[in-house]
Amino acid sequence: MTIKLPSRGLSKEEILQKLRGYSADDADPFSGKLFTIAFEPGVNELREIAFEAMKMFAFKNILDFTEFPSAIRMEKDIVDIAKSLMQGDEEVTGTFTFGGTESIFLAVKAARDRFLLSRGTITIPEIVMPVTGHPAYDKAAEYMGLRVKRVRVDEKTLTADVNAINEAITENTAMIVASAPNWPFGTIDPVKELADLALEKNIWLHVDACVGGFVLPFMKKLGENIPSFDFSIEGVTSISLDPHKYAYTPIGASVILFKKKFYKMFSQYANLRWPGYPIVNPAVLSSRTEATLAAAWAVLHFLGEEGYTELARRIIVARNKIVRGLRELGYNIMGEPTVIAAFTSSELNLFRLSDEMGKRGWLLLPQKGIPNMNIPPSIHLTITPIHDKLADIMLGDLKTATEEVKRLPPSEAEGLLEIFTAVFSMITPGEMDLATLGRIFAELEKTLSTYGDRILKILGLEKGFPKEMAMIYQLLASLPPEIAELLANYVVIEIFHRGI
Ligand SMILES: Cc1ncc(COP(=O)(O)O)c(C=O)c1O
Repeated sequence: MTIKLPSRGLSKEEILQKLRGYSADDADPFSGKLFTIAFEPGVNELREIAFEAMKMFAFKNILDFTEFPSAIRMEKDIVDIAKSLMQGDEEVTGTFTFGGTESIFLAVKAARDRFLLSRGTITIPEIVMPVTGHPAYDKAAEYMGLRVKRVRVDEKTLTADVNAINEAITENTAMIVASAPNWPFGTIDPVKELADLALEKNIWLHVDACVGGFVLPFMKKLGENIPSFDFSIEGVTSISLDPHKYAYTPIGASVILFKKKFYKMFSQYANLRWPGYPIVNPAVLSSRTEATLAAAWAVLHFLGEEGYTELARRIIVARNKIVRGLRELGYNIMGEPTVIAAFTSSELNLFRLSDEMGKRGWLLLPQKGIPNMNIPPSIHLTITPIHDKLADIMLGDLKTATEEVKRLPPSEAEGLLEIFTAVFSMITPGEMDLATLGRIFAELEKTLSTYGDRILKILGLEKGFPKEMAMIYQLLASLPPEIAELLANYVVIEIFHRGI
């Protein structure tokens, strides 16, 4: 059904009631039951202060900082705080963005332009990174005409294999990426070794500290064994770090830092070629609310060093409890966990385990792994301060869920899926060139218009996402990624188009 603008405006009460209805099935990000993408410190006052700040600035626009100089003041403070956490000197400068992906886009653009301008000829610049790097680099590469080489990691530590990175570097390499930590396993890449390589070959090294930038420095202060990953290492060219993750600020806040002020020239955008006002955009988007900038400013100043140190201490307590509990249940911990821990099992179907935990109200993130790099399926846990009080209850439920999954017989659907995906893999070429992809798209358009509805029905997706997702995860894990990506895109387009 297509919704139309109501002919008569609704009252405030009607609106709030409807919105409450819309959110009825949402997970509660403040509950502490999410180990996924909610970064919850469990501090109520923090939330109120953030809301107040957002209210004050929601309708002010960063786009015209001459009209709203508060944008410049707040951004400078936040960038300065990020810079001091990352041991940056006076030359380090940066930009406030709306998320890690946007910060990464700016870093990739700067690295690409510096590379192409110093080269003076057109080539396809390459990004070399450990396979554990975030998809934001592939996305930036796809938008801006670069190529990404994802390189195997050390199988035991799940950190960058410096030799493998070295071997993948060519004369077209414009950027190397290191993560501190990476999202799938929470392990920290050897930034110093990668920086030495970058210096030797004069390549831009970006450190993705989107997750760790606002928390690892405090964990280090508390005595955790955290290797350096910041501007104290010569050879680090840019760093991204997100307040909206472990600085606990509302969603829509990230910072990109550049080692040299001039590098920001390659990331910023100015346009004086139209008859309108002069455009100078420090970030990707043009109009941006000041709400999340103000909220980030407020939360950073509310917590201060003391607050962040205390919250880091609570994460360490929670993580240690959880890791110990997981080992006792027979799970294997992947690499050295930091604020993220991931575990695997050679016996259990982890996708089903995640569903079983979902029935008990806990949200964990299943991960498909990469079989040909010996990375098995796993479950990812984002650990936040609120988990210190809930770890024992979660582990109790995990014990029952584990026993439940052990008892479940393999479903018929799982067997069918294996046959289906084996056939699919046989008829899909391993490496896809543009022409092949073009043919697949053309076929896909025809197939989906005929069979699309039936595919959604078989997968249980015709009315949105089902509570139990194991079969879907299994399917996505078994299909060749290029095909799985097309299928996933199709499903999401349909669900957003139809609504739920
Ligand atoms: C390591 C890392 N980099 C970048 C990103 C992208 O951040 P965002 O979702 O804010 O765009 C994420 C998101 O989880 C991440 O974990």
